[in-house]
Amino acid sequence: MTTSHAIEIAGLTKSYGDQEVLKGVDLAVPRGTVFALLGSNGAGKTTAVRILSTLLRADGGAASVNGFDVATQPAQVRESISLTGQFAAVDEILTGRENLVLVAELRRLEDPEGIADDLLARFALTDSAERRAATCSGGMRRRLDIAMSLIGDPPVLFLDEPTTGLDPQSRNEVWKTVRELAGHGTTVLLTTQYLEEAEQLADRIAILHEGRIIAQGTLTELQQLFPPATVEYVEKQPTLEEVFLAIVGHDDAVTQGDQR
Ligand SMILES: Nc1ncnc2c1ncn2[C@@H]1O[C@H](COP(=O)(O)OP(=O)(O)O)[C@@H](O)[C@H]1O
Ligand SMILES: [Mg+2]
Repeated sequence: MTTSHAIEIAGLTKSYGDQEVLKGVDLAVPRGTVFALLGSNGAGKTTAVRILSTLLRADGGAASVNGFDVATQPAQVRESISLTGQFAAVDEILTGRENLVLVAELRRLEDPEGIADDLLARFALTDSAERRAATCSGGMRRRLDIAMSLIGDPPVLFLDEPTTGLDPQSRNEVWKTVRELAGHGTTVLLTTQYLEEAEQLADRIAILHEGRIIAQGTLTELQQLFPPATVEYVEKQPTLEEVFLAIVGHDDAVTQGDQR
């Protein structure tokens, strides 16, 4: 396998009992890009992420992360990655800063306080630094969770449905965070059931359906698979989400949300 890709998967298969979940999945994620694995509930996204993060063994096929084989070099893979699941792993009793310092200490890094301060600033979490995580909004907790997962600078980050269950404002906050990551060169594989999320964030998108990748490419490439047959002129109404955000406030949402 070449190392120009941060993640490579070839012919990956996985069954639970007689249920075939992955039937031969192929995909390649270029370094430093955001890649969205799009699929409906039960498509096998989490299964794929668990295999890539060495939490689960595949039945067949091959996968490598950061140039290391998940089956034969699991320790090196684990050193290369961070995984953030759908449910935030933040300690509710601790403050934002305490959570970050704790993880930095567990990883035996120098200057845990300095690392915490940098991440709080980078993710606009300074206002929540001294608040117990339990009192923070869902979006803020998720951002704190992502910030925690970045301690130690893993080159590859898995975000498994990072915005499922969040309200639109919190979702926008998390999107900003992901864009920020991409700007720093981290390779991000995110799974989502939301088409719009893939559209907003991803450099490349793969659609997992019935155990296989049925389409893969940039948004433009995917759109070209379905050229419009006729040009239609329609009066465009704002989406409910656009209306909601216009009323509630868009970019202010982050700071306002912080001042509860
Ligand atoms: N540990 C397990 N044992 C049995 N079946 C499982 C297990 N984990 C997931 N499944 C099944 O595999 C399918 C894919 O699950 P999952 O990878 O969680 O999908 P997704 O993350 O796309 O929603 C689902 O039908 C799910 O019920
Ligand atoms: Mg899942």
